[in-house]
Amino acid sequence: MKLKSATITILTLTLVMSGANAAESIRSLRGAVAIDQEVNADDMKKVQAETAPIQRNYVQQPPLIPHSIRNYTISLNNNKCMDCHSWQNYQDFEATKVSQTHFTDSQGVDLADVSPRRYFCTQCHITQVDAQPLVENDFVKVRALSRY
Ligand code: HEC
Ligand code: HEC
Repeated sequence: MKLKSATITILTLTLVMSGANAAESIRSLRGAVAIDQEVNADDMKKVQAETAPIQRNYVQQPPLIPHSIRNYTISLNNNKCMDCHSWQNYQDFEATKVSQTHFTDSQGVDLADVSPRRYFCTQCHITQVDAQPLVENDFVKVRALSRY
């Protein structure tokens, strides 16, 4: 235990020191603009409509939407997504049917239709765009999803 905390202290010290060095060159995602100044918003990313689905990176990831969803309303009375993704209709539209996990409510009870907590699809699913990583990273997909 003692050795462990000593290692952590050294690590922390090293981090703090290298942090101080890097301070001058840090550039936040909003750019090197003073905090009291407004930054122009980035251009909207272009939705990649009708392209092959981008593969998932981890097993629990909500799959990205490989089509445009402009004007698809999700309201109290109507869920446009379910026109194509419901178990009734998916075959007619060659869409993936909504996952069975979406039928389970917050108490773990399996319902006969999509659970209210999964009703607002775009809470989790987003359209796919050609976006570069914001920061450099060496993320690797889980083995179950990588192709050898
Ligand atoms: C007009 C029919 C239609 C509507 C409406 C529609 N989709 Fe789709 N969706 C499809 C089809 C067809 C595919 C399969 C496309 C493919 O695999 O290339 C698909 C694919 C998807 C996928 C990828 C599934 C997978 O297997 O990876 C997601 C997620 C998705 N749609 C979400 C949505 C959401 C959220 C909405 C509402 C905002 C929506 N869709 C509305 C037809 C539709
Ligand atoms: C709370 C987050 C959340 C919401 C809300 C949600 N989903 Fe999902 N969805 C996921 C996750 C996570 C997965 C992947 C794991 C799984 O299947 O549960 C998924 C998977 C899917 C799939 C792929 C199923 C498959 O067999 O590969 C489709 C299609 C889909 N969702 C459509 C929808 C639609 C349509 C709605 C709205 C009615 C919706 N989702 C709402 C999180 C969500």
